[in-house]
Amino acid sequence: MARYGPAEVEALRQQAESDPDGFWLDLAKRLDWYRPPTKAGDWSYNEDDFHIEWYADGQLNLSVNCLDRQLDARGDKVALIFEADEPGTGRSLTYREIYEETCRFANLLKSYDIGRGDRVMIYMPMIPEAAAAMLACARIGAVHSVCFGGFSPESLAGRISDCDACAVITADEGVRGGKIIPLKLNVDEALKESPVPTCIVVTRTGNDVPMTEGRDVLYSAVREALSTECEPEVMNAEDPLFILYTSGSTGKPKGVVHTTGGYAVWAATTFDWIFQPQASDIFWCTADVGWITGHTYVVYGPLMNGATSIMFDGVPNYPDFGRFWETVDRLGVTIFYTAPTAIRALEREGDDWVTRYSRESIRLLGTVGEPINPDAWEWYWRVVGGGRVPIVDTWWQTETGAALISPLPGSTPMKPGSATQPLPGIHAILVDEHGKELEGAVSGNLCLTTSWPGQMRTVWGDHKRFFDTYFTTYRGRYFTGDGCRRDEDGYYWITGRVDDVINVSGHRVGSAEVESSLVSHPLVAEAAVVGYPHDIKGSAVYAFVTLNAGEEGTDAVRQELIKEVRHDIGGLAAPEKIHFTPALPKTRSGKIMRRILRKIAEGATDGFGDTSTLADPSVVDALLAGRQ
Ligand code: WT7
Repeated sequence: MARYGPAEVEALRQQAESDPDGFWLDLAKRLDWYRPPTKAGDWSYNEDDFHIEWYADGQLNLSVNCLDRQLDARGDKVALIFEADEPGTGRSLTYREIYEETCRFANLLKSYDIGRGDRVMIYMPMIPEAAAAMLACARIGAVHSVCFGGFSPESLAGRISDCDACAVITADEGVRGGKIIPLKLNVDEALKESPVPTCIVVTRTGNDVPMTEGRDVLYSAVREALSTECEPEVMNAEDPLFILYTSGSTGKPKGVVHTTGGYAVWAATTFDWIFQPQASDIFWCTADVGWITGHTYVVYGPLMNGATSIMFDGVPNYPDFGRFWETVDRLGVTIFYTAPTAIRALEREGDDWVTRYSRESIRLLGTVGEPINPDAWEWYWRVVGGGRVPIVDTWWQTETGAALISPLPGSTPMKPGSATQPLPGIHAILVDEHGKELEGAVSGNLCLTTSWPGQMRTVWGDHKRFFDTYFTTYRGRYFTGDGCRRDEDGYYWITGRVDDVINVSGHRVGSAEVESSLVSHPLVAEAAVVGYPHDIKGSAVYAFVTLNAGEEGTDAVRQELIKEVRHDIGGLAAPEKIHFTPALPKTRSGKIMRRILRKIAEGATDGFGDTSTLADPSVVDALLAGRQ
């Protein structure tokens, strides 16, 4: 039985409209506060008075809400199930065990004088210690910044220096898909460029890794001596909780800052509304903690709700394409939440990998990260869910902290491919390119007109960039960067990014970042990068490259450029296609016409629209001739 049936959801929506402050303050009551807030949101999106605050006079500690608070009722309940790369070799931690591990970690950090406001970089596999490290930071008031283990040492170094981290927590090595990931070696590389005084190394494989005396400490060597109790810091609601770097349309990745109270309320609330956890549920969100989905729906949301959450350290195709469903059966997973890219990749391998497992424990399916095409939705529903369980398609962003547009199972009728409707309290609108609000069934750019507790508060170290990025395209509104269609029933259908962000397998790649990596190569004169539709990844990276005069665009050069991008950013950003061209299409004022490049990347041979503003219209013919 849904705890939020149509009547409850309607009541929430009504209260959100008639008494917003009461509505938001009521949501905060689901947490334990040292000092409960008396104020809900206080915000303005206007330049002269720009500010966003939630529950500003409240005080709390998020690790207490995830752990201490659960001990009495469910200290012996499993909090985290570590599902290792090699099936069946993981382990489980109860709430008491993860509480103790967190306290140990917190005490270790404190022994290095790390405390309130200090930044700690986490570069780890999906092991319980990664959650403990995050929770330990929250406990002592340090600000964590998790960097996905697939990012290169170069990217890690950039993040460490941007937030001026005072410590890195890592593991000796990671293991994914049967392959070793040299995490500690990567950290050593990064620390050459951006040194920190302390590096904590957790044992995952136990293989030998170099340790630097005075800087590196092996967690297993000090763990036993660390106390399993640690007094939590009393944090203000608006104290920063974490920084998570994400790619935008311009420049380097932005440090998205989330604060404690508002993020906690919205993560806890949306987890409850959307997944409606029951005591016996086994919840599996397949995301890595290096992404916002892992923060909100692997660690914080489930633990605040006293749920059992799986940390999956593997990949969908190892040891074979049945991995997800074998694991579902073995662990008795009841709620399964993954990305459309994984669904598409598995659909391609045939139904047999799915149907040979029972999957009867599943009662709810979810998707996140990119638009799900109705065909993949249909397969997910019919084959994985056996046509008997609802699907929640949750739209949100790193910036929104937790889901904003999503069905509530049991009360929102589903439509394949639509994230359905904004959650109670969320005000979404569509605008045209001039910012005029569009009514009814229409396509436009997706904006939010009012704030919500989980909204990001700033870009680390660059508040102006925060305002400029999100609040200047359409004055007085938060612009998501997404295009969207609304149908006659008021359902939202996200069509994808309308800015220069490329959504590769549900992860954001900034075209400017890839371009700057390419042009840093000595052979490259100029580069322009766009996204193009890709069967499995959703979108993939297509790079147009002009080499220096006299250089030839051979396959060897192609490989070298791909290597360059992997080195500078990580494998995720590596171009799928590199198209050498003698010139890029530019306007007379020198602006690259990406519209034309997108068309060419999509495979079009005509229909380029008005090309009369090009400085040299013959460039288009040269581009077409040079296509691979
Ligand atoms: C972008 C945000 C939300 C956590 C994972 C990605 C796209 C996200 C959906 C969805 C259509 C979606 C949007 C958004 N997106 N969820 N259910 N349907 N598109 O977080 O890396 O910050 O990316 O992902 O384009 O803007 P992110």
